[in-house]
Amino acid sequence: MRFVVNLINEYDPGPFPDEFDGEVIQLASNENPFPPSENVIRAIKDGLLKINRYPYPYYSELKSLLSTYTGVDEGCIAVSNGASDLIRLVTDIILEPLDRVYIPMPSYTMYLMFSMLRDAHVETEVFEEYRIDGCYSRGKLAFLCSPNNPTGNTLEKKTIQEFLENFEYVVVDEAYVEFQGNSAVDLLNHYSNLIVLRSFSKFFGLAGMRVGYAVAEEKIAEAIEKIRNPFSISHLGYLSAVEALRSLDYYRKVAEMIVSEREKMKKGLEKNFHVYPSSANFLLVRHGDPELVKKLQERKVLVRDVTGLEGLRGYHFRVSVGLPSENSKFLEVVEEL
Ligand SMILES: Cc1ncc(COP(=O)(O)O)c(C=O)c1O
Repeated sequence: MRFVVNLINEYDPGPFPDEFDGEVIQLASNENPFPPSENVIRAIKDGLLKINRYPYPYYSELKSLLSTYTGVDEGCIAVSNGASDLIRLVTDIILEPLDRVYIPMPSYTMYLMFSMLRDAHVETEVFEEYRIDGCYSRGKLAFLCSPNNPTGNTLEKKTIQEFLENFEYVVVDEAYVEFQGNSAVDLLNHYSNLIVLRSFSKFFGLAGMRVGYAVAEEKIAEAIEKIRNPFSISHLGYLSAVEALRSLDYYRKVAEMIVSEREKMKKGLEKNFHVYPSSANFLLVRHGDPELVKKLQERKVLVRDVTGLEGLRGYHFRVSVGLPSENSKFLEVVEEL
């Protein structure tokens, strides 16, 4: 086995309802709690009898709809089974051993794992609350996340531009972008070294389907397409992503509800805790009780314990916005504790 595998910390997926008896309130994975659109449900039902066949490997309808959705040419889009797989694919097409990779922290941990797997020279730097005011480093690849997981804040365009001018390639992970709408995609008109990653797991509520995409200049998109698993999106994942893009009005309404619930939760939590301002579908909370996450779990409320993540000082949990009834229950339990 390769030595680097021993050095990599296993990804911590947090608690899952399957690990508990009875019903739990799942607010640990930044999922969208609302059901899929009716069109998506119908498409999945209609597609069931075709799961004996391979999916069409070019995913052209999805790419065509994504082209309209993002405003870039189809040739600038690469698809795969989730933004997380695209992070791996980006490191695969770009990184040679010992290339310098820069990761501002606290942020999503998969950037580190996949860069390490390529034997890259990784430099992490902590920014208080992920407030990055400029680029003070140089190298092959920088990983930015906006809105950032777990802090929830967004990066200013001029900061992203500074990175684009100092790094050979810059990834901007926009898994949560639709909850605030401020995308870096238009920077592609000026920067050919930008790679924007997107997910169907959050705004489109298809976390269980595993669909994501990258937007980048044609050469980069082509390289990703060339090396990805030819059938990386399942047939049902493909059909549901296509129909989700045709149900934008529905998902926009859902996102509005999520944002309004998020602000209610924030107000409730601020009575007792420091809550980070968020542009996503989750909140990061600093607290003082080492047992709090466990106590919430005992009361069947699952949140993600992010204490110990590089760049976070003190105890922290991240809570996703759930259904209104789940959020009220969560606030009730927190208040009780
Ligand atoms: C910042 C960020 N990027 C990527 C992902 C992975 O998304 P996907 O489900 O599309 O693999 C997540 C998942 O939580 C995330 O928080």
